[in-house]
Amino acid sequence: MHASFIFLTILIFCINDGLTIDCSKSSAKWCRNKRIARICGITEQCKNSVWKKQNQNDKVNFTLYYETLCPDCRQFMTTELWKTYKTIPGIVNITIVPYGNARETYEPKTDLYQFVCQHGPNECLGNLIHTCVLNYYPTIDQYMPFVYCTESTAGDVQTVAIQCAQQSKIDFNKIDACTKSKLGNQLQHIYAAQTDSLQPPHKYVPWITVNDKHTEIMQHEAEKDLIKLICKSYKGSNPPAECKKYL
Ligand SMILES: *[C@@H]1O[C@H](CO)[C@@H](O)[C@H](O)[C@H]1NC(C)=O
Ligand SMILES: *[C@@H]1O[C@H](CO)[C@@H](O)[C@H](O)[C@H]1NC(C)=O
Repeated sequence: MHASFIFLTILIFCINDGLTIDCSKSSAKWCRNKRIARICGITEQCKNSVWKKQNQNDKVNFTLYYETLCPDCRQFMTTELWKTYKTIPGIVNITIVPYGNARETYEPKTDLYQFVCQHGPNECLGNLIHTCVLNYYPTIDQYMPFVYCTESTAGDVQTVAIQCAQQSKIDFNKIDACTKSKLGNQLQHIYAAQTDSLQPPHKYVPWITVNDKHTEIMQHEAEKDLIKLICKSYKGSNPPAECKKYL
């Protein structure tokens, strides 16, 4: 054996704090770090299994267009969307857009938008509360527990929001101030513009897109089994175990 190789090996063991590695016995530990994998000669195998990360860019873009008080939206969000978020978060990039079938008009005098909602002023308030929560708590783990809570709880919109905020680490004072501000009004307008620019235009709510595409078939599949639709749409190289039964 070449002297420098022996030296290198000794050096590696020293770096590993004198840890000795029996490659034939402790297979579970082989991929623990790059040095051990190299010593055991299985770097390639580790790269193809344990070290393989799901690529962020492979995530399926899923967008839900909804309004807060529509029964079918509530149903979809508290079942299919919630299960998907809980089960396969690593392969889906969920975006929610609270506006739905609302209408807006611009008032030059006040420089504000006026909204009219399908289920009345309470729904406009609910949409605005969600809009403000999405602004201040933009990551899905921050906003989704609140969204789930409000969509699964019947009752006065403001009262339910206060209760759900408490349970979801959301500062309701901040949200309440936002709903009464010009900022909230402008943020709601952005969701209105996003909804109104859909191609094809939405005909009902909930309305879904997968990687910015909408078809009746996709919509039907999403409502029936969203996990299945996302798994089948995922083009990444390492689908999670939860997808295996669909592939
Ligand atoms: C997730 O979706 C948002 C909104 O469409 C987009 O801005 C963002 O780049 C997406 N992230 C990934 C990882 O695809
Ligand atoms: C998701 O959206 C992001 C941002 O628009 C884009 O970069 C990415 O390629 C999209 N992912 C897929 C799978 O289309």
